[in-house]
Amino acid sequence: MKDKLIIFDTTLRDGEQSPGASMTRDEKVRIARALERLKVDVIEAGFPAASIGDFEAVQAVANAVKDSTVCGLARALDKDIDRAGEALKSAANSRIHTFIATSPIHMQMKLKMQPEQVIEYAVRAVKRARQYTDNVEFSPEDAGRSDEDFLCRILEAVIDAGATTLNIPDTVGYSIPQQFGTTIANLIERIPNSDKAIFSVHCHNDLGLAVSNSLAAVMNGARQVECTINGLGERAGNASLEEVVMAVRTRQDIFTCETDLDTREIVTCSKLVSSITGFPVQPNKAIVGANAFAHESGIHQDGVLKNRETYEIMRAEDVGWSTNRMVLGKHSGRNAFKSRMTELGFEFQSEQELNDTFFRFKQLADKKHEIFDEDLQALISEVSIHAEEESIELVGLRVCSETGEVPKAHVTLRIDNQEITGEAEGSGAVDASLKAIESIVRSGATLELYSVNNITSGTDAQGEVTVRLEKGGRIVNGLGADTDIVIASAKAYISAVNKLQIPEERRHPQKADV
Ligand code: KIV
Ligand code: ZN
Repeated sequence: MKDKLIIFDTTLRDGEQSPGASMTRDEKVRIARALERLKVDVIEAGFPAASIGDFEAVQAVANAVKDSTVCGLARALDKDIDRAGEALKSAANSRIHTFIATSPIHMQMKLKMQPEQVIEYAVRAVKRARQYTDNVEFSPEDAGRSDEDFLCRILEAVIDAGATTLNIPDTVGYSIPQQFGTTIANLIERIPNSDKAIFSVHCHNDLGLAVSNSLAAVMNGARQVECTINGLGERAGNASLEEVVMAVRTRQDIFTCETDLDTREIVTCSKLVSSITGFPVQPNKAIVGANAFAHESGIHQDGVLKNRETYEIMRAEDVGWSTNRMVLGKHSGRNAFKSRMTELGFEFQSEQELNDTFFRFKQLADKKHEIFDEDLQALISEVSIHAEEESIELVGLRVCSETGEVPKAHVTLRIDNQEITGEAEGSGAVDASLKAIESIVRSGATLELYSVNNITSGTDAQGEVTVRLEKGGRIVNGLGADTDIVIASAKAYISAVNKLQIPEERRHPQKADV
């Protein structure tokens, strides 16, 4: 009988700390539902004390999720822990995750506290969290650069105070696999009451070692891994959930533990996170990249045709890759549409929402005869964006692009129920269109990124455009999809401008200072 490896997903919390990856409450709920279908054990939904928006998002996830444990992050402060306890009140299973820094540099420069004081704060925080739930996790932040003797002292004290999971974060991605694995083994061996808690790890990818460090820790006794879909997260990101889970599953000859995940849901989750955050997945990304199971060289193709295992160590279908299945078409009815959307995890809130979305589906099916799951996912993203705080809408776009002529765009927007038109020239059709929009909205934002991905294959495929705008240090991503990439670009730009108009505290909440 193998041990269970607990999968703790922090896409909605640490993942959201990637610049521009902030999510609304409804987007978080959609991702949380997808994570629940993936059967992750713990979903870290946010940092309730950071903002009203984050509090409400954690509360909404706590209401929506029944099978996974819902976790809220809190600094080792009474007010943070009380906010987390309050946000998680309705969760079927809740966890409070409290943390305080333990490395010399963080204690001296950031906290300005003595080590003894840090232990006091940690113990007090864990005891307070236990008043809300008996499932309490403690993290010594920057453990990767902390003194091992000090870690042993603080961890022993928090176990006595009631912590049930001890998470060892490599906050700045400084560790090296063999050394990190040894640290985990030493902590488990040296802490006298270590058998009363589960050891967990949380690795960042600054040196590209987050997954390797996590796996080294698992080989040395860690039984929880904190990770994110697509490896999203602060700076270079966190350990990627799909890589950790598939490594453990594929190398059962080496690992003495296994996860309970339904790995067939991985690709759906990956696409959902990518489309909501606007962070595309690189084609050669392990497990979820478009080329992860594609064989280009003749020798490989020949081998795979003779026996799949010559070059494949996993089956594409085991992680949810299906060969672009045509699911719906222009003759599909409302029921077929509704049931496929439900299978993809989208729940219609009203008859009106179903009707509107079905209308959009029909419009798309008229332009593009075969509708794939990926098209429906893009439709879901558009509908959800639309249902939110959109005050600017695209009414019409006309572009004139001719060899030897300067491209011109004429655009009509609806802003707070008033139609306004604008025109501009540009170096190409996209450039002219975005300039025409900017001439109306005057956002004053800087374009940081513009990227186009085709959602499925073929020249009639929808293009999915990501636009990243920066204004006054704030970064937002906008997404747009259409069979015409100029229109997709306009939609993406407008979506980003709409996000810039939402008050910051409702979207990006991470402002921890302890
Ligand atoms: O990286 C980190 O140290 C964290 C903690 C809050 C666990 O995200
Ligand atoms: Zn982190």
